[in-house]
Amino acid sequence: MTERLAVVSGGGTGIGKAIARRLAGDGHRVVVLGRRTEVLERAREEIDEAVGAARVVPVGVDLTDARQVEAAVQRIAPLGPVDVLVNNAGAVITAPADDSLPALAEAWRRDLDTNLVTAVLLTTALLDRLRRPGGRLIVISSAAAQRGGAGSHSAGSYAAAKAALHGWAFGLTRQLGPDGITVNVLAPGYVADTEIFGDRWSERFHAEKVADTLVGRAGTPEDVAAAVAYLGSPRRAISPAR
Ligand SMILES: NC(=O)c1ccc[n+]([C@@H]2O[C@H](COP(=O)([O-])OP(=O)(O)OC[C@H]3O[C@@H](n4cnc5c(N)ncnc54)[C@H](OP(=O)(O)O)[C@@H]3O)[C@@H](O)[C@H]2O)c1
Repeated sequence: MTERLAVVSGGGTGIGKAIARRLAGDGHRVVVLGRRTEVLERAREEIDEAVGAARVVPVGVDLTDARQVEAAVQRIAPLGPVDVLVNNAGAVITAPADDSLPALAEAWRRDLDTNLVTAVLLTTALLDRLRRPGGRLIVISSAAAQRGGAGSHSAGSYAAAKAALHGWAFGLTRQLGPDGITVNVLAPGYVADTEIFGDRWSERFHAEKVADTLVGRAGTPEDVAAAVAYLGSPRRAISPAR
């Protein structure tokens, strides 16, 4: 069997790195995308060493920038059809600079760019390169999409951006289903050991987040990676409608 190809945005850290490691361990060649090339390079070394094979291909890109996305896809194209595309890149945006309406508008646009437009640009640019039939498109949303939260300091824009991913993905299922491509959205609750909370993270913050869960523990990046491995599996056979 030829090596399968996966693309993981935000694959250099946190949940994305765990997904990249899991897919590499399952035999995929994995393109990891992110803005910080040194972070991607470290992830490549760590994962390749862990799985004992050269499986990770780092590609530096700011996914909010359409031209950079086009250039990144040019680098991915020679690797062959994409079996699994994981739109994982995202961030909780810092608070508006002040209480003014222009500052609020700027913060909302940054949040929508980072958590929604990144996924739309990457997916659209790779659409023709998804394997047909059999491609797997997975989007990492957040429990905030349904419950709000995580973006209180950016006036709910994080929750709104994540919620928008769901409606967009439903449209894609209709578009891509007939080609035998599945589309799934995962909306994790609190996941510890990632970079997303930055300076906001503290033992107290962690304890409050865990107390807010129904199972009394934080999710782990590996929990999310296991779900992605299932959703991305070729054994989860879906027959094309035509
Ligand atoms: N941790 C949680 O509790 C939690 C819960 C639910 C959902 N999520 C979601 O899970 C995903 C991964 O988050 P995480 O917790 O693992 O945080 P993380 O460690 O901060 O990972 C986010 C990744 O996205 C990349 N990224 C951000 N903006 C980008 C851009 N413009 N272009 C390219 N790459 C970009 C970052 O790399 P660079 O900075 O190098 O670009 C980073 O590797 C996010 O979508 C997040 O919203 C997280």
